[in-house]
Amino acid sequence: MSRTEDAPGSSELVVVANRLPLDLDEEGGWSRSPGGLVTALEPTLRARGGTWVGWPGVADAEPAPFDDDGMGIRPVPITADELAAYYEGFSNATLWPLYHDVVATPRFERSWWEAYARVNERFADATAEAAAEGATVWVQDYQLQLVPRLLRDRRPDLRIGFFLHIPFPPVELFAQLPWRRTAVEGLLGADVVGFQTVGSAENFRRAAARLTEAGADDAAITVDGGAGHVTAPDGRTITVGAHPISVDAGDLDAMAREDATTQRAKALRHELGDPRTVLLGVDRLDYTKGIDVRLRAFADVLADGRLDAGETVLIQVATPSRERVEHYAEMRDDIELTVGRINGEHASIGNPVIHYVHQPVPRDDLVSFYRAADVMLVTPYRDGMNLVAKEYVASRTDGDGALVLSEFTGAADELAPGAYLVNPHDLGAVGDAIVEAASQDPDEARRRMGLLREQVLEHDVERWAAGFLEVLGVGD
Ligand code: ADP
Ligand code: G6P
Repeated sequence: MSRTEDAPGSSELVVVANRLPLDLDEEGGWSRSPGGLVTALEPTLRARGGTWVGWPGVADAEPAPFDDDGMGIRPVPITADELAAYYEGFSNATLWPLYHDVVATPRFERSWWEAYARVNERFADATAEAAAEGATVWVQDYQLQLVPRLLRDRRPDLRIGFFLHIPFPPVELFAQLPWRRTAVEGLLGADVVGFQTVGSAENFRRAAARLTEAGADDAAITVDGGAGHVTAPDGRTITVGAHPISVDAGDLDAMAREDATTQRAKALRHELGDPRTVLLGVDRLDYTKGIDVRLRAFADVLADGRLDAGETVLIQVATPSRERVEHYAEMRDDIELTVGRINGEHASIGNPVIHYVHQPVPRDDLVSFYRAADVMLVTPYRDGMNLVAKEYVASRTDGDGALVLSEFTGAADELAPGAYLVNPHDLGAVGDAIVEAASQDPDEARRRMGLLREQVLEHDVERWAAGFLEVLGVGD
């Protein structure tokens, strides 16, 4: 039987992502998966009762499909060798650094690319089996760029959308990829291709025209619906748009208002010794996040006395991530060394100036951390969006707090008016912004947070999902 003759499955809406929203642990239990993609998509797919096709988070595991509270979970197995080549290799040591402006040097290995193509085929097969006749399939992120094309070959009846959660780089950088043409053609299998920012969408449209036989228009791409169009060699038109992702702002706002959250936030400050200023960083431990930038800038302003080490505490929460990829292991050592050095120089016995936590934190605790922090530090060298910035804002129901935000995040496009915007390559400017944010007067704090909250509460993740799916032709 040929692929196109395969009997269709029963799901009207299928999300395909490298990771399932749940990770399998060694004892066979499931826990929430890390990262912004899962944070954003889980509530939207759950609300719509669709099926999620993805990897269960450990090598060689093949748990049976199951229903999780109305959401179908369909695991795709990946072997240990494939994980090394497809996930740690091509996805996270080739595409990740290449797409983040070559912050680290990407490695180009043919065997990784071949494993990537093979695993993308497997995801396309699993999706073709899960999707009902005429269903909508929404493929996510850089790990699965070939899936739209492979899926269209198998199931031309489907509506196929693709969303890239990370930046799409300028064609001058993207062109380094030896398999650049196939990678772009993979995406052109979709009907709609979405990006976090106007800049990324424009970069992709330019890459499609430059590197493939496709034609592209020059229509203005905007965040409120202005779309570009690419015409594939087979005559299909692909819509290219900017759809900035967001958080479940209402849910976070409600959690932040709970008495228990306020109590935990107070208790946390007390445990820290009731300092005048609490600074906070929350990230996956990733070299794109600029954790080193904020640590060094913080050390500088302590050293020059602009912040007092006796009255200031920085909490850095860093979830372990991609630990077998070389750049990640090196960066972890570098950061832990830096934390030790700064504490060695500025802490007194029993009173560290930096509290470093290398663990995931439960979501309700995270909201208490956000409530406890006077200044949130978000300083990536490059980031597709950065949901942490939006989570902080959604949690500040008191209208207080300050956000120091890198201009190289997608979030900066929306949050510039209320944030303290910084260039993470300019350590002096990051230090200045930290000092300014830590010493802002209450009226200015409320003015800025008011602007931030207006933006985040109105543009939540439900609006993002509905907006993308509407372009794809799916109503509520
Ligand atoms: P990325 O998708 O690159 O990881 P984002 O900032 O967009 O970056 O999303 C990260 C998500 O992971 C957020 O929802 C954030 O709350 C969550 N997260 C990050 N660090 C931790 C942590 N230490 N514990 C729990 N959740 C975390
Ligand atoms: C980012 C990526 C996601 C990824 C997440 C966690 O948000 O855009 O695709 O799932 O990081 O990374 P991991 O490699 O652990 O899945």
